[in-house]
Formats: sequence, structure tokens, C-alpha cells
Amino acid sequence: MPATVVVGAQWGDEGKGKIVDLLAQKSDLVCRYQGGPNAGHTIVADGETWKLRQLPSGVVSGTTSVIGAGCVVDPEVFLGEIDMLVERGVDPSCVVLSGNAHLIMPWHVTIDQASERRLGKLQIGTTRRGIGPAYADKASRIGIRVQDVLDAKILRQKIEVALAEKNVWLERVYETEGFELEEIWSHYAGYAERLAPFVGDTSLLVDEALRDGKHVLFEGAQATMLDLDHGTYPFVTSSNPIASGAATGIGIGPTRIDRVLGVAKAYVTRVGEGPFPSEIQDERQTRLRELGGEYGTVTGRERRCGWLDLVALRYAVRVNGITSLAVTKLDVLSDFDELPVCVRYRLPDGSETPHFPAHQSDFHHARPVWETLAGWAEPLTDAASLSDLPAAARKYVEFIAHELEVPIELVGVGAERDRVLA
Ligand code: IMP
Repeated sequence: MPATVVVGAQWGDEGKGKIVDLLAQKSDLVCRYQGGPNAGHTIVADGETWKLRQLPSGVVSGTTSVIGAGCVVDPEVFLGEIDMLVERGVDPSCVVLSGNAHLIMPWHVTIDQASERRLGKLQIGTTRRGIGPAYADKASRIGIRVQDVLDAKILRQKIEVALAEKNVWLERVYETEGFELEEIWSHYAGYAERLAPFVGDTSLLVDEALRDGKHVLFEGAQATMLDLDHGTYPFVTSSNPIASGAATGIGIGPTRIDRVLGVAKAYVTRVGEGPFPSEIQDERQTRLRELGGEYGTVTGRERRCGWLDLVALRYAVRVNGITSLAVTKLDVLSDFDELPVCVRYRLPDGSETPHFPAHQSDFHHARPVWETLAGWAEPLTDAASLSDLPAAARKYVEFIAHELEVPIELVGVGAERDRVLA
């Protein structure tokens, strides 16, 4: 299938990096279509671990790696990752950056941090990388784009316009220091020479690749439940990770997408605040966190852990048009005798539903209805194909496919690239 979107089907950190890395071997282009350095992708290939935040996962395999217009870019993080690739012997010339992508400016980071502090108990738990404020300025039309850096005069004008407003906010609302025009201008103008070789017309590049019958992979960052429009607002990110975001974020028509691969962990994790019905309420949460190494790639924060939530996954299948699923980290569950799975939500009025609540207050009060499946209590290290899995593990996977009415294409049973069963 030429155009495939890989999308996180839960709250992020489903192991998309590994699945993208695997599919990137057979792709001609890998594209990021939204998000910024709030994403943390860990790829383990040939015994080496790569942690990327800004660049598409495909870069590790030397595949043409596109950052589309729908992304926000922190030039320091971007160039830092380019330097890291060079140091580790990977040629970064395969990276193509849209001139329409917006830049994360220093005030975005300051505002992200200050507004979380101000929210106190109501905070969102953002990654504090300036993502939300950068997207807010984009929508307010005072954002600064990658292409602006390439023209020093325009860059100066745009920084001046932005600072006229930002400094008032920073000083009066957030009671923190503002930024100096000349200092920011010279700093960002200094990025021009290093960014220029990477900037290209990414919409045209992807369109031409698809016309030539090439394989294009669209890599979603964050995930369905963190989608600005369809996630658990306000505990969401500020872009559209869902599959249709690939069309807007890259600049192709929705009819060009052939296939949507949803990636879901065999259980659930969430970082940041917000309701989480299937969150584990006993010591097994800590056990699962340790077994799964569930700590944020970007922030190092502990991830909250829960049992598999099929209500939320059913919703992800719907809003993304998922055509098949990859279930990751099945091996992490090997330590448990029994595995509760949330199959429905019980709402405050006592009714039960298999569908994700359309309204926030219903979701906040939803309680999980469990179906308990047998565990397999043995490691999955030797399984070379799905038929090698212990019967209970196969049943677990089949249960998910049956409940969601979606085929399961890949099952992850270990961190290495080759520990994925097809
Ligand atoms: P922001 O994207 O930094 O604005 O954070 C908004 C919400 O999305 C917070 O709950 C973050 O923890 C969450 N989030 C952002 N990026 C990721 C990610 O890559 N994985 C998991 N959660 C994320």
C-alpha cells in the first residue's frame, strides 16, 4: 500500500517509533505531520538505542524524512539531532523540512512553563516544550515560520510584531522578564545558514512520490486521545495526531491515504493529567511500570499505567479509520496471572456503553467494566511467529481483534527491531 499512516491509538508512547522504523525499511519516505519536540521516539536497531524528539523515526534507516507544515520546530532541538546523527555516522541529508512549519520561539517555552504554574492543580501536565503556545500563535497569525528565518528582514519584522504582544503578556500577566528584539533576531538569523539546506517543498515532494507509486509512511506523534479536537480535551496536545491530520499536516488530499495502522500497547499508559478509567489502582501499577520501563522519553516522568481499554481503542478505530492494528509490548504482560480488560464503561446513570462518551463529564465519571482474561505467565522471548505464542497470549490478541473488528497485523514482543511478529 503506497500511503500508510501510523497513528497512536491511545495516549501516546505506544511504541510507534519501533513500528515506523520497521515499516521505514520498506518505505521511500517517512513524514511527520504534526507535533514537535514533545514527541519522544525510542528506536532500538542493531543493538543501538536512538532517542528522537523532532526528527522522523525513518532518519535512522537513512530514508527520506519529511517534517511537514503541520509540525512545530525548535531549531535548537532540530539542529542538535542533526549533529547527533552526524556524530553517530548517519548522513542527515535525507531530512526535508517544510518552510511552512512554525518555529518554537523562546517565549513559547517560557509561556508553556508559566501557564502550567499558574494553572496549579488544574494543570495539563504538558511537556513544557512550548508546543501549545507555538500552535496558539500559529492560529492567531503571529507565528514565525521556518521560511521566515531565511529572510533576515522579514524575520526581524515578525519577531518585532510578536514581541510587541508577548512582552506585555510575559511582564504583566506572567510577571516574568520579556525578550530583547535584537538578541532574539541575531540568534534566530544565525540559524538560517544551517537550516537552509534542509528546507524544501514537502507537499510537492510527497505528492510526486505518491504519483511515482512510491511508498510513503506518515508518522503520527502523540496519539488519538491527545488530539486537540477528538481527544480528552483539555488534557490534550495542540495539534491533530489522528490519521486525517496527515493530509492537512503534509498538504495532500485525504483520498491519497490508503491504509491506517493503529498502534496500541497491550495495556495503557498516560503521562500528564486527565481522567484514565482503566488506571490500575493497586501495586500492579508500579509492577507494570517497572516491567515496561514506563518513564517518559522526553521528560523522564513516570507514566501512569492501566489495563487495556477497549472502549477507548474502539473510539480510536472510529476516528482514525484504522484498517489494522499493531499491538506492542505484549511481553510486558507475561508476569501477570490474570489480565483485566476494560470492555465497557459504566456511566453515572448506571448504564453501560461500549462507546467512548461524547461529553467530558460522562468520561470523567466513567467506571470500567472488566472482563478478565487468563495470563500466560511465561516469557515470550522464544516466539518467532504468532503461532509460537502461548495459547493464552494468542487468545488475548484474538480477543482484541474480535472486540474491535479490526485485524491485528503486528505484535511486539520485545524492544529490538526484530521482536515484532507479523
Ligand atoms: P504538550 O503536547 O506538551 O502540550 O502536552 C499536552 C499533553 O500531551 C500532556 O498530557 C503531555 O503529557 C501529552 N504528550 C505530549 N507529547 C506526548 C508524547 O509524545 N507521549 C505521550 N504524551 C505526550
